[in-house]
Formats: sequence, C-alpha cells, structure tokens
Amino acid sequence: MSDTTLSRNTPAAVPFPEALPTGYEWFDDEPTFDPERHLALQEPAEITTLKDLGYSDADIADKATPIAVSSPFRVLSDEGAETMLAVARRLKQYHRPAGDRIERMTRGGCYRSRWLRDLCISPEVNDHLAKIYGIDIAPHPMPVHLGHLNYEPTTIRTAVDKWHHDTLPLDYVMAVTDLANTPGGGFEVFTGTKYEAAELAAAGQRPPIDRVVAPALGPGYVVALHGDMVVHRGAPMTEQAERITMVNGYVSIDPNKDEQSRTKDLIVVDDHETLWTEWAKFAAWRARGRLTHLIDQLDFNSDMESVAAQLEAAVADVNQAVTEMRAGQQEISHYE
Ligand SMILES: [Fe+2]
Repeated sequence: MSDTTLSRNTPAAVPFPEALPTGYEWFDDEPTFDPERHLALQEPAEITTLKDLGYSDADIADKATPIAVSSPFRVLSDEGAETMLAVARRLKQYHRPAGDRIERMTRGGCYRSRWLRDLCISPEVNDHLAKIYGIDIAPHPMPVHLGHLNYEPTTIRTAVDKWHHDTLPLDYVMAVTDLANTPGGGFEVFTGTKYEAAELAAAGQRPPIDRVVAPALGPGYVVALHGDMVVHRGAPMTEQAERITMVNGYVSIDPNKDEQSRTKDLIVVDDHETLWTEWAKFAAWRARGRLTHLIDQLDFNSDMESVAAQLEAAVADVNQAVTEMRAGQQEISHYE
C-alpha cells in the first residue's frame, strides 16, 4: 500500500447485494450506523507475524499478508458496543450449529440488520485494518462471511468454537460481550503453525497450554487475524453465562494472491440460496481480475503449454468453485 488514502478509493470487491435473499427481512427499527458516534478506532500495540509463528518464506510468499495476529485494539465506542450487543442479542433467534465445530452461531445477519451491515462494510474500519495488514483489502465478497456471530453453547463442557483455522483469509474477532470478565470462553491463539496443529491433532492432542495466548478483549475490542493461517478457538466456559463474539471477513484485493478459503465447508453451514450465488460472484470477481491481468500482460509466446497454463490459472477459482459446488456437502474441518 503506497499511502493511507489508497484503500478508501478502492471500491468494494463485490458490492453488497441490493436485494435480500428469500426468508430475510430488514429490522425496521434500528439506529443508523454512524462512524462518528459508533466507532472509536485505535491502533494495536503489537503485531505477530506468520514468521513468528514458524511459517517458512515459501509458506508466506503467496499469502495475502505476512501479518498473523494483532494485540487487542478498540473498534467500537461505548455507544457502538451497546448497539452491537443489542443487534447480536436480536440475531440470536436465528442461531444454528456449524457442523460439530460450533453449537450456536448466526450468519447472514447483515441481510437483517442494516446497522451490522454498515459496520461490516465500513470504509473507515476497512482502511484501519488495511494499515494493520499492510495491504489493500476489501470486505469479503461473500456476505455470509460478514458479521458472523458466535454464542455460548448450551453446556460448559463444549468449546464455544473448537481449535481451527478459518474458512477465509482475513478477519477480526470482536468481543460483543465482555470476554475479559467472562467465566472461561476466552479467545485463544496457538502460537504455532497449522501444520503443527494438524500433527498434534493426529496424535490425539490439542495445542499445549504454554503455547497458547488468550488476549483480554473488552466489548467492542478486536484482534485482527490472518484467519486462514492462525489456529485459534473459543475456549469452553467454566460457568454458564452470556458470551458473544462477532467475526468479520476481508480479502486482499489482489486476485493473484492465494485464495485462502475453504468455501466448500460452508455447504453444511449456510443457506444455499445465498451461498451458491455469493460463491459464484466471489469466484467470478477473482477470475475477472486474473483475466484482466492476462489480457494486459500476456506477450506473444510459441510455448502452447505455458499459455494454456496461464489461461487455466486465470480461471482456476471458477473451475474449483464449480467442482466443489457439484461435489456437495462435506465435513467441516477442525483440529479436534
Ligand atoms: Fe475462527
């Protein structure tokens, strides 16, 4: 990113849809999202890189950013945090499980709450995160990845969200309730790679406690996360209590970077009417960028295989989406 105004001038990768999918209606009695009143953006004090977690230069080369995770920083004002809590409580009625990974979560809330939508696509927040990640980003082109809400499970024996890495490249995790004063239920980060987490899981183990950090998050505070590369969880509660987090997704606007998504995991999670269309638009946006690059850059070349491979790579996201849609539902992956 060459200057701080660049991402403000960057249009959304895919505009938020004007029409609502079947079964969704706007809440009609909400405050209007006002960045002046509802945001109180602050800088994180510390940044951990992918290298710090043990990833190699080769692992990092095609990823959206070399940043892994930030220390907590404030996003919402007190008034913003109060509104966020009210919106999240209202959206709880739509909760459902995400396979065996999360017992109670609500997605698609940005098709019901304009306040949540406008927070999640806010250019002010987008710019703030772009500076932290050091790259130009856009709100995730798939609105199911905007404003994801996790709620406390019905039993304290179950993790709020099991050890996993995310189904999208970049996100922030926001405490909606006060996670710093909740009995258990902390947001926990494994300070290793996902390869190490997979080895531990294969041996029937979870990340060891001395390699786990749990940043204290008050209401409206977030950590910026390279969600595809950082293994994390919502820990089990120690007593039953209200516990809500909100996760909002972003992508690098550079379509030549690795896609870093596991959209096929969403087939058992999201409403299909929204999922197929959002997925198709995401793949089409990535391919359009790559095809434009190819039109602009491809030189005369007698090496057929080289040209065919470049053309194939330009539409790789489209072909993968088609194959995965047709393959149908599968288990959601996690490390437990
Ligand atoms: Fe996550």
